[in-house]
Amino acid sequence: MSEEEAKKGNENQRTNRGRVLRNRSGAKPKVAEDKSSSSSSTGKPPQSKYKTQTSRSKTKHINEMDVKATVSHILQLKGKRPIVGLTAYDAIMGRAVAESGVDFLLVGDSVGTTLLGHETTIPVTMDDMVRHTAAVRRSKPGCLLVADLPFGEASLSFDRLLESSRRLMQEGGADAIKLEGGKDVADDIEKLVATGIPVLGHIGLLPQTVKAIGGYRKYGVSKQESEDLYTDAIALEDAGCFAIIAEMIDSKVSSELARQILPPLIGIGSGENCDGQILVTTDLLGWSSGPVPSFVKPYANLNQVVSRALGEFVREVRNRKFPLK
Ligand code: KIV
Repeated sequence: MSEEEAKKGNENQRTNRGRVLRNRSGAKPKVAEDKSSSSSSTGKPPQSKYKTQTSRSKTKHINEMDVKATVSHILQLKGKRPIVGLTAYDAIMGRAVAESGVDFLLVGDSVGTTLLGHETTIPVTMDDMVRHTAAVRRSKPGCLLVADLPFGEASLSFDRLLESSRRLMQEGGADAIKLEGGKDVADDIEKLVATGIPVLGHIGLLPQTVKAIGGYRKYGVSKQESEDLYTDAIALEDAGCFAIIAEMIDSKVSSELARQILPPLIGIGSGENCDGQILVTTDLLGWSSGPVPSFVKPYANLNQVVSRALGEFVREVRNRKFPLK
């Protein structure tokens, strides 16, 4: 099937299924909105609430960049300015990352490889995700808080998926959930959205499938794969995702996808023409136990800072320079 045919097929599919979120000319998509953290539920702008949650001067950057904890806000940022996401896994990181002014925080299942010492994200459990999400929620971020569904949760049954999503929102305090996969999970995502659960999609490299795909690689380089990615992205748009993560997708393909779909496409290793970017926070901070992906720019070297500080402490105790007299 040519790209043109694929697009046409998808247009028809959307029309026939009556699930068009908006036509290409402009009406806004309907996505599940988390009322609990929405500023619209109070009628008041969120800035004043945010100021009471943190006293650091960096807070003003958040207000300047117009950050709101709603999925409709993320949707509306498309075409206005790049959207920024970062991962966080506990209350300390949650606070630091939220104060940087990001638009959303993701409690990714990357917690497994970044903090918990696993080699892949596969061993991460629902209890891990709920515990880490709740810790980030306790940092009272003013931006949207999204939590990842771990391996297997979307594959068993819709009831299990609903229950796991419920736990992330009710026990973890997430505003929205993230789910890996394209057309194969679109029907379930549509049902979640109908239940009032905002969903962030994730296409391209799906780290939870690493055992099946045999390693990490770029996606969308072949014609077939680029067409499959287009089908996946449209399926997620139709299902009502408020945004879609595009991981390790060929930059020409991600650029075209971002142009074609209505929800923002948030890239990670997918080039510069996505609607926004997300990175794993520990990667950009240089705070990791192994090599980081080649697309990551190191903004700091915390491994070095921490190792120097801890080494100095040990030396000073041995040299009787600490405790201070
Ligand atoms: O788990 C995670 O941190 C992610 C990001 C790589 C997007 O899925």
